[in-house]
Amino acid sequence: MEMFDWKCLPFGYIKTDFNVRSRYKDGKWGKLEVSSSEYIDIHIAATGLHYGQEAFEGLKAYMGKDGKIRLFRWDENAKRLMLSADGVRMEKVPTEMFREALFQVVKLNKKFVPPYGSGASLYIRPLLYGSGAEVGVKPAAEYTFLIFVTPVGPYFKGGVKPVNMMICRDVDRAAPLGTGTFKVGGNYAASLRALMKAKEDGFASTIFLDAREKKYIDECGPANFFGIKDNTYITPKSESILNSITNMSLIKIAESLGMKTERRRVPVEELSTFAEAGACGTAAVISPIGKIVDPERNVIYEYCKDGNPGPSTMKLYNKLVAIQNGDEKDEFGWMTIVE
Ligand SMILES: Cc1ncc(COP(=O)(O)O)c(C=O)c1O
Repeated sequence: MEMFDWKCLPFGYIKTDFNVRSRYKDGKWGKLEVSSSEYIDIHIAATGLHYGQEAFEGLKAYMGKDGKIRLFRWDENAKRLMLSADGVRMEKVPTEMFREALFQVVKLNKKFVPPYGSGASLYIRPLLYGSGAEVGVKPAAEYTFLIFVTPVGPYFKGGVKPVNMMICRDVDRAAPLGTGTFKVGGNYAASLRALMKAKEDGFASTIFLDAREKKYIDECGPANFFGIKDNTYITPKSESILNSITNMSLIKIAESLGMKTERRRVPVEELSTFAEAGACGTAAVISPIGKIVDPERNVIYEYCKDGNPGPSTMKLYNKLVAIQNGDEKDEFGWMTIVE
């Protein structure tokens, strides 16, 4: 009997069998340990709790038609975790240790990798935090690194569907010279007021503007923004957004499909000129945007007027998903088989 109704899995947490952990103490990382507990013992004065010394990552493993499990650009996640660690002055996780933990946790939880064709995947969450005790504001001397996994359902059940977004002008997710480019928990805490307001008002997410001038698009909640016009893929360049690995990959795919690409500041008014718009990230790959509402300016930007994602969006989406599932040749060398 199947363990789950894979097609109906939520995008949420489900217990799996094992996670892997390592502690940094006395100037060195310890051996990776396998745990079957969902809990961590944490010092009451840990800097991860008090001073936000923590960072995380998110990536997925996919089951191919050939029965092989594939990871998508995991080395980029390892690199970004190092950048985030440095950003809040934590001990970095060496790439080799990240790789070993990643492969181990996926192999140990193999039975939780959703089957090919279900649209579901195994979400992988690496976490790093200051576990050493400090009371003054300073970096901890001890760190904990762990990775857990959880099977997640397809983001869009029943196909890719356009979502509506709301422009947020009264909350900033990150300051221009702050921590926006790091995947640290504080940025997510800072975004919650805006995100919850957008949800209460019936929107899928919020679009943050640049905090300095409120003139340019930053990003869409936990995803990067892109717009398409004149066969060109345009995505914001900003000093306060997380550099999405999905976005980086879509740029390469767009180029391979003969599109032009631009990474530059995107003024809010330019929204009216795009033929298609979307949000991209590991969770949904692409969320096509149907409508962007700017309540304070009383403006609505509309895309997908027939209710369907635009043709370029779907081309990009299909190609990336085909590579991730192993259906198409991995021409960019992005996939790693877990053996
Ligand atoms: C703030 C933010 N922006 C963008 C992204 C998309 O990044 P990626 O494509 O690497 O998942 C995420 C998700 O990780 C995110 O949390």
